Amino acid sequence: MQAKTPKDSRTILTDLVLPSETNPLNNLFGGELLARMDRAASIAARRHSRRIVVTASVNHVAFNKAIPLGSVVTVEAVVSRAFKTSMEIFIDVWVEDRESGMKSKANEAIYTFVAVDETGIPVAVPALEPETKLEKDRFIAALRRKQLSLVLAGKMKPKDATELKALFLD
Ligand SMILES: CC(C)(COP(=O)(O)OP(=O)(O)OC[C@H]1O[C@@H](n2cnc3c(N)ncnc32)[C@H](O)[C@@H]1OP(=O)(O)O)[C@@H](O)C(=O)NCCC(=O)NCCS
Repeated sequence: MQAKTPKDSRTILTDLVLPSETNPLNNLFGGELLARMDRAASIAARRHSRRIVVTASVNHVAFNKAIPLGSVVTVEAVVSRAFKTSMEIFIDVWVEDRESGMKSKANEAIYTFVAVDETGIPVAVPALEPETKLEKDRFIAALRRKQLSLVLAGKMKPKDATELKALFLD
């Protein structure tokens, strides 16, 4: 399988915040943002693997900034590392200022997707070759995040999370 770069999976979804998608403070409802991020991330995972993909875990979400009704919201998703059958996806959320058009970062998240066959069995995905410094940094740290996610899910023993443990012992 030919390796891919983050560019191959980059996915950008731009949409408005409508009244039915807000909380009582007239800001974007958290669950709606999670769904938008899941959608963008699944397209990125599909572009990388060209397979059916399923969400395996949501590893990190930070709702740093409320997004008001009527905002134009851009969700940008990119594969940050591919393992055997799983892929880590980085998601950045931007809000566009109505008058200046300037985009400011509102939120971010990290999801894990798994490529599966028609029966739901995990299948191998192409390797990812990071190019920029940011892509390389995210690629290296992804292994620690995978280990943390597996430990929290009870799928890995803490003693086996070698790279994660090293982070605390440095
Ligand atoms: C995701 C799913 C395919 C994993 O199946 P599984 O039987 O655990 O398969 P495996 O143990 O072989 O794991 C497959 C890969 O997922 C990774 N993985 C599984 N759970 C994970 C977690 N919580 N965090 C990070 N990675 C995880 C494994 O490390 C493995 O990665 P690798 O092959 O790249 O090394 C399965 O749990 C599933 O179908 N879940 C439902 C998915 C779904 O419906 N999502 C929508 C939400 S409603």
